[in-house]
Amino acid sequence: MLSSNAPLQRSSAAGAALSARELVIEIATNGSWRPVVRGVSLDLGKGQVTALVGETGSGKTMTALALVGLLPPAARRTSGRVFLGHEEVSTATAQAGARGRRISMIFQDPMTALNPVLTIGFQVTEPMRAHLGLDARAAQERARKLLEQLHMPDPTGVLARYPHELSGGMRQRALIAVALACDPEILLADEPTTALDVTIQAQILDLLREQVDQHGLAVLLVTHDLGVAAQVADRIEVMYGGAIVEEGSVEQVLRRPNHPYTRGLLACVPRVDARVRPLPTLPGNPHGVWTIDAGCRFAPRCADATATCASTEPPRTAVEGGHSSACWVYARPPAAAQ
Ligand SMILES: Nc1ncnc2c1ncn2[C@@H]1O[C@H](COP(=O)(O)OP(=O)(O)O)[C@@H](O)[C@H]1O
Ligand code: SF4
Ligand SMILES: [Mg+2]
Repeated sequence: MLSSNAPLQRSSAAGAALSARELVIEIATNGSWRPVVRGVSLDLGKGQVTALVGETGSGKTMTALALVGLLPPAARRTSGRVFLGHEEVSTATAQAGARGRRISMIFQDPMTALNPVLTIGFQVTEPMRAHLGLDARAAQERARKLLEQLHMPDPTGVLARYPHELSGGMRQRALIAVALACDPEILLADEPTTALDVTIQAQILDLLREQVDQHGLAVLLVTHDLGVAAQVADRIEVMYGGAIVEEGSVEQVLRRPNHPYTRGLLACVPRVDARVRPLPTLPGNPHGVWTIDAGCRFAPRCADATATCASTEPPRTAVEGGHSSACWVYARPPAAAQ
């Protein structure tokens, strides 16, 4: 059984490229610190896409930033550990050392993530020169090959251009090229396709999948969109109110969802075969979650809530091999834990 009452797992899982254990992150609001990430543990497997899903405000971005030591000044990590393979990288210095070389990141908005006054060529080759020690000519050739692999039309021409001269989809490909420039082991992608239309989004996700399959990359894909996770992920972590409430393979979470929150999210995903009709929305909104300090954080929005739900937070419990959920009613933690 996987339970929050069980002793903390202190090390990384075997074979994981990046692991987090019991991360707690607080944010300063109105002069006091409040937790926005509450005991998150996760493992990014090599050659796998792990999707971190949940509504806006659930703590996904803070979790991803904490993995690379890039929390904003208003936030602090109060406990938890991060492992790169078996090596602990919990200090800011160790995390800074791994960034750019072993871990890369892609953020949501390509216009802010690419520097508008530098050519694509400069931005793709700069990390190669800094981290791999390549000279200008070798870096240029490697950049051209990389753009070719990313199915970018006219790679040589693109390298000479500035971000504003490219379409949204091309900018996002260029950003992926910057992120993959040094052959990282791990890629953290925070809503990488949210700004794009669905056709381009699907192309970029296919591209990401291709890179994972060909190079054994470990990817954390942060998204509020379960449809995106369904398209590209191997594993899904569902986050609500700063905690992982359900975790499993794509098949397990999407076909046999356990947690009422996951089931609510799934009911809001459009089906390919659906004619135009209004989608159900999850009742209530997540904003009130931060005013709750006991019990299941989803209780005010849950049709199945009981008195126990309101008083005691459910532990995460295995529902089948590799699939766990934190729910008193559906995941049936042992009575002793109540
Ligand atoms: N710079 C900030 N200052 C204050 N609160 C913040 C800041 N950034 C995020 N938050 C709060 O932290 C919580 C988690 O945010 P975030 O990790 O960005 O969520 P997500 O990525 O899931 O949308 C939210 O409640 C959000 O309001
Ligand atoms: S623990 Fe209770 S309130 Fe929380 S999701 Fe399960 S049934 Fe709903
Ligand atoms: Mg976010």
